[in-house]
Amino acid sequence: MLPKIVAHRGFSAMYPESTHLAFEAGLKLPIHGVECDVRLTRDGRLVVFHDGLVDRTTDGMGRVSTMDSCDLRELNCGTDECPQQVMLLEELLELLQDYPDKHLYIETKHPTRYGPEVDEATFRALAYAGMLDSEQVAIISFSHKAVRYFTRMAPDLLTFYLFRVREAKWNPKSVMLSSPYGIGPGLTHVRQRPELIGKYGCPTYVWTVNEPKDMRWCAEHGIAAIATDHPQLALQTYAGLL
Ligand code: G3P
Ligand code: CA
Repeated sequence: MLPKIVAHRGFSAMYPESTHLAFEAGLKLPIHGVECDVRLTRDGRLVVFHDGLVDRTTDGMGRVSTMDSCDLRELNCGTDECPQQVMLLEELLELLQDYPDKHLYIETKHPTRYGPEVDEATFRALAYAGMLDSEQVAIISFSHKAVRYFTRMAPDLLTFYLFRVREAKWNPKSVMLSSPYGIGPGLTHVRQRPELIGKYGCPTYVWTVNEPKDMRWCAEHGIAAIATDHPQLALQTYAGLL
């Protein structure tokens, strides 16, 4: 079985990351689905945004968590030719429903540092969309707390615990402190420690796999899914292995 392909922040090698354009382009490809990050604004709206600051990917400056959603949504996270508004998670869930065979991996950003609010807001958005038991949605997180929260509150959703290399400092034996459906080590980490694959008897999702040689390595090592900025390249690479 070849790894499933997940377009990281949408088809982000081709379109501005985390925009409607990038997600729709990813959802239109013959791949498994797309990945996104969610954060809370000051007024408690859940936006699809990777960085803590808006500076790198918009024409504005400031911190997402200290901005109101109406101000954030005034910014352009696309290009001059094709301006894009920062998406709300509810809008992305609506888009996903137009692609019923596709999947969305939602990463709740930094719930440990900022408390459970991001997870709770994600839960509410999924409940409102009627997707709490959707096979289309997976929750991914660097926080065991978040994995435990979704396991308890939405047991039908798939969850992935994301590993960081620096976790080895406080958890040298990589003891699993939650019960995720799968694990998600970074590419460098899993290439250094391939014993992580299968260590917990669950599927492995690897991020962010952008080079054909790494895509092939994942296929050779039984990785279940890869997140990539280059989903079309992954399709070509894997077509060459058939
Ligand atoms: O899919 C997991 C991966 O996205 C985690 O890293 O920084 O790209 O959110 P980051
Ligand atoms: Ca992410």
